[in-house]
Amino acid sequence: MIARVRFNTRMKHRQSDSEGDDDDIDQEPGCCPGRRDRWHRPFEAGGAGRRPSNRPACRRFRGQKLSDPQLIAFSRNFGELDPPGPNPYGEPFNKEHPELNVISNVVENGKPIGNLGDGEAVWHADMTYVDVPPKAAMLHSLEIPPTGGNTYFANMFVAYETLPADLKKSAAGKIAVHDASTNSAGMLRKGYRKVTDVRETVGAHHPLVRTDPKTGRKALFLGRRPNAYVLGLDLPESEALLDALWAHATQPGFAMCHEWKVGDVLMWNNLSVLHRRDPFDPKSRRIMHRSQIKGSERIA
Ligand code: OGA
Ligand code: MN
Repeated sequence: MIARVRFNTRMKHRQSDSEGDDDDIDQEPGCCPGRRDRWHRPFEAGGAGRRPSNRPACRRFRGQKLSDPQLIAFSRNFGELDPPGPNPYGEPFNKEHPELNVISNVVENGKPIGNLGDGEAVWHADMTYVDVPPKAAMLHSLEIPPTGGNTYFANMFVAYETLPADLKKSAAGKIAVHDASTNSAGMLRKGYRKVTDVRETVGAHHPLVRTDPKTGRKALFLGRRPNAYVLGLDLPESEALLDALWAHATQPGFAMCHEWKVGDVLMWNNLSVLHRRDPFDPKSRRIMHRSQIKGSERIA
């Protein structure tokens, strides 16, 4: 039972297999082209009582079997829950617990039971199209496909710190618009119009470089590539700057990969990592229940 876990303490767990240590997430062979020796940099070593600058940006707990109330109770240890943003269908997927989201490709009675389908979910951070995006997310696997559907994370502190000097200079002080109209699977959200000119994209404005208020450490804050636009630049300049920043931030050497097992709980800092998901066989089933924690920070 993990109904009550204090921040930065370990979730009690059953060891599900010999390599199934619950820990700051570890790179798994065969999953990600990223170099193993890069590993300690994207997701620095974990453990209780560490300085905030050394807290892991992503953690994994294997072998859990959480009911929705348990997932809610666990998540509440980290703050107030932030309900899911608008989905393409205009009503909550989890009717009994609308503060949770469902990520799934399963269709029942002609209706999807969750979001994001079975295709690729492109690199993104969650809900950065609002002024105060959620600060953390938890994703719990209930059913997974036999292959595919892996989830990748890239650490944006490392991305910023390794930027070439000219790109650092170009990004400094710039504000970008974060598109609200589509989700990370490219589906149009209910109530939004398709963006045809990124200079008219609707969504929150955030600086390209975020400074962590606790540590002063800087990170790239990119949100999502499609429909993004850097204010004050002409279109080709904005596209070129965004393309260069995204190419740098999402290079395989900075990313790590999580291969799912049923019962995994993954938890990440939404303001300091990007994530993406591989597609998987539409004939297989993938069901995740998900929570997120309200942010308190205007990105600055
Ligand atoms: C999410 C998300 C990817 C996945 O829940 O925000 O992007 O692997 N999920 O399901
Ligand atoms: Mn996401």
